[in-house]
Amino acid sequence: MRFFTAVVAATAACGVQAASNLVPDYEVKLLLNPTAVLDANHKLVATVLAQFSMPTTVTKMNVQFLDKNDKTIYNAGWSPRIRKTEGEDDFELTYKKRYPVTGGSIDGALSTANVDGFDSSDTNYDAQIEWGYTAKTLSISRKKSSSGSGYSGQDLPNQSDSRSILIDEAPGKFEDWSSNNWGITALASSRIYGPVLAKRSVGTWSGQELYIEVWPIRDAAGTGIEYIVEASFKTTSNTTASSKHDDLVNLLTLKGWFLAQDSLKTQLIMDRY
Ligand SMILES: *[C@@H]1O[C@H](CO)[C@@H](O)[C@H](O)[C@H]1NC(C)=O
Ligand SMILES: *[C@@H]1O[C@H](CO)[C@@H](O)[C@H](O)[C@H]1NC(C)=O
Repeated sequence: MRFFTAVVAATAACGVQAASNLVPDYEVKLLLNPTAVLDANHKLVATVLAQFSMPTTVTKMNVQFLDKNDKTIYNAGWSPRIRKTEGEDDFELTYKKRYPVTGGSIDGALSTANVDGFDSSDTNYDAQIEWGYTAKTLSISRKKSSSGSGYSGQDLPNQSDSRSILIDEAPGKFEDWSSNNWGITALASSRIYGPVLAKRSVGTWSGQELYIEVWPIRDAAGTGIEYIVEASFKTTSNTTASSKHDDLVNLLTLKGWFLAQDSLKTQLIMDRY
């Protein structure tokens, strides 16, 4: 007992992490060139649907973020989001914290998150490596839901209701991120960024379920719409993520569909709304 106490005391004194890192899954996200893969109605062309065995039917998802005008929340690495997906009754709330993966070190990003309290002892949060063309980001998400009763279709709540919903469900780590009640105070004076009504097609490729989403985001001039087209698949294996990332880049390049850039959808929404 005395030995155990001494070890715990020494561990705490040295600042050694008490619990192991979160174990992430992986989502590979690659951009497609909208002029090559969309028709005049901004729908995926038949050759793309055929390549990935996708039906012409899509699932609509309406998405908005909340933040203060000065983006206090986003600048702290957090994104509180409300989403309504076609066919679902409730709003899906996500409180997501991002950590950049620097120098390719996924373990480094997981260790940084661990120091912030995101470790394997907290099973409420899901860790995911968002694996773009060149950049990788660790995202740590807490999902909640809120009743959609009284709303129709993909309608999202207005500003005051969005604030209340996200405040009511705020998880502790978001709430008290940099000071007591930080997240609640910021949400109380937040506004809506978006909404963006995305359309998802679901198909298969190389034994994986593959999504292609079309996101109509306000353009940089603020006068029109820029269509962001993103293909993605998920896996629990980093070696599968790595090899199939390269395979999909090669296929998309061969077909003339690839846009060799990292996907920054959330960043674009935060910049343009
Ligand atoms: C926001 O929506 C709620 C419920 O739909 C409604 O009761 C309220 O009046 C709306 N608030 C504003 C400021 O429009
Ligand atoms: C996959 O994970 C292992 C174990 O953490 C690590 O050694 C390896 O570098 C990772 N590979 C990639 C491609 O990230």
